[in-house]
Amino acid sequence: CGIVGYIGKRRVVPVLLEGLKRLEYRGYDSAGVVYLQDNELRRYRCRGKLAGLEAAVSAALGSPAYTGLGHTRWATHGAPTEQNAHPHTDCSGRLVVVHNGIIENYHSLREELIGKGHRFTSETDTEVLAHLIEEHLEGDLVAAVRASLRRVEGSYAVGVMCADHPDLLVAARNHSPLVLGVEEDGSSFMASDVPALLPYTRQVLYLNDEELAVLRDGARQIYRLDSGEPVQRDITVIDWNAAMAEKAGFKHFMLKEIFEQPQAITNTVSGRINLETGEVVLPELTLGADALATIERISLVACGTSWHAALVAKYWIEKYAGIPVEVDIASEFRYRSLLVNDRVLTLAISQSGETADTLAGIRRAARLGSRVITICNVVGSTMTREADGTIYTHAGPEIGVASTKAFISQLAALFLFTLYLAQVRQAIPAEQRRRLGQQLIDSARVIEQLLPRVREQIGTMIESFYACRDFLFVGRGVNFPIALEGALKLKEISYIHAEGYAAGELKHGPIALIDRDMPVLAIVPQDAVYQKTVSNIEEIKARQGRLILIGTEGDTHLRTISDDIIYLPEVHEDLNPLIYTIPAQLLSYEIAVRRGCDVDQPRNLAKSVTVE
Ligand code: G6P
Repeated sequence: CGIVGYIGKRRVVPVLLEGLKRLEYRGYDSAGVVYLQDNELRRYRCRGKLAGLEAAVSAALGSPAYTGLGHTRWATHGAPTEQNAHPHTDCSGRLVVVHNGIIENYHSLREELIGKGHRFTSETDTEVLAHLIEEHLEGDLVAAVRASLRRVEGSYAVGVMCADHPDLLVAARNHSPLVLGVEEDGSSFMASDVPALLPYTRQVLYLNDEELAVLRDGARQIYRLDSGEPVQRDITVIDWNAAMAEKAGFKHFMLKEIFEQPQAITNTVSGRINLETGEVVLPELTLGADALATIERISLVACGTSWHAALVAKYWIEKYAGIPVEVDIASEFRYRSLLVNDRVLTLAISQSGETADTLAGIRRAARLGSRVITICNVVGSTMTREADGTIYTHAGPEIGVASTKAFISQLAALFLFTLYLAQVRQAIPAEQRRRLGQQLIDSARVIEQLLPRVREQIGTMIESFYACRDFLFVGRGVNFPIALEGALKLKEISYIHAEGYAAGELKHGPIALIDRDMPVLAIVPQDAVYQKTVSNIEEIKARQGRLILIGTEGDTHLRTISDDIIYLPEVHEDLNPLIYTIPAQLLSYEIAVRRGCDVDQPRNLAKSVTVE
């Protein structure tokens, strides 16, 4: 999703379209522009790709209009329809807003505004902002935007314009990127990312969180959102090339997405658990708590990386909610004899919401009388439309074919859902739910801190094994699926043959393969099955195996048996899957780069598999 805004001497429509094209890599499913001409706002919006918008606005390319806003939307609240596309207007139609991010308290703001007579035309959280500004507007647009944003909880980058204030654009940000641009002739720009500005200028001003900017032709000024005090900000001259900037300075989308994982967890969990009472709220899950209180079994269905998330969830749900769980690969589920009925809940996990096998699986379960819930990253996708309820993972668009941040946010959503089930079935005390919820939220900070350190360490480690032909990943309990996921990541992007195994299963076959040419990556946190895993590792060591261990900080014993060791901080043992996934992703990434592979577009793979 992306924002572009311009006020200056150029004809604005081509500037907006060009800017949006350069933000396409961010992923989107609808787009829109608005500009000011003859004291009126003219707005065009379209579902789908930019070509549709370009066609709709083609007659206006040469319009004598010099102020405007553009937006590409990647749906979060509300399906990707024309009605939900930005820009959004207030009741008067003279004020427009474009927004990236999530307004967490939009439900209560919307109710309040409806009570005051505002009429809404979309399902988006963004429209609330247009009406809120209208409510505060008494002649001073900047003051109205400031007052409105002070009432908003959540993340945002916004652009605002008003037909009654034709000489200015207002921009603001909090936890969503927004950058300003300055052209030689004095024109001003705003954009979600630098590539949108590069055709016109390399002189930019970065907005910080909780800052607002007023843009005019010939001038711009930044203010603190809280105090309203002016802020001095120096111009930065960009010397990036466009391709680098599109990945926000990262070499690959996959790496960028690995580093976005703390934010993905925060976005997925935010607003869904009350950290004082331990109450979990899942408002989009239209399936009532009563229906969940009485089910006898849960059937988890997914493919690929999403299937690994399902395998982790089995451990969590059975332990905390006390409900038996079955996990199926969707292509198996759709054809085997199924003992599914109205007492079984089917839970499909899918980043895209379009995977053909998973979709067929939920259709079959529904025909057998089962209620269906999806955990999905793409708003309005087919699975979310067909299911009885959806829990969205707010990971943002994932572009790298190998799934990383979508997986982490699936885990976060599944842990939340586990706590929700435990709540409706009164399986664990509220205080325990509260503590677990807090630890889930804290895991984002833990990951943020370990990412740069672990990446650096892995970068220096891989020289001795990046050329290997085979690799084994092992783990136990809740980390067994993480071993499977580590092996899948390595296969997908580096084309090294890799297998994931339950550590206790090694002696039933794979141990015959152990030699110095096949590294074994073992996940060994100090959890309930620590001693058992250590015994399995000792068996590998005794056969001259080559061991890369990932374990708990301070565990000096592991160092004595490993060839390489990565230490991670101690977290609640059931949250280890979130933490231990990170080194596995980074190891695969660094090896693939070292082998010269196309990390973001690996051969033969597709991001969304809509065929059987
Ligand atoms: C493809 C992708 C995988 C993904 C799987 C399931 O194979 O390459 O990364 O895990 O599909 O996709 P879904 O969108 O259903 O999670």
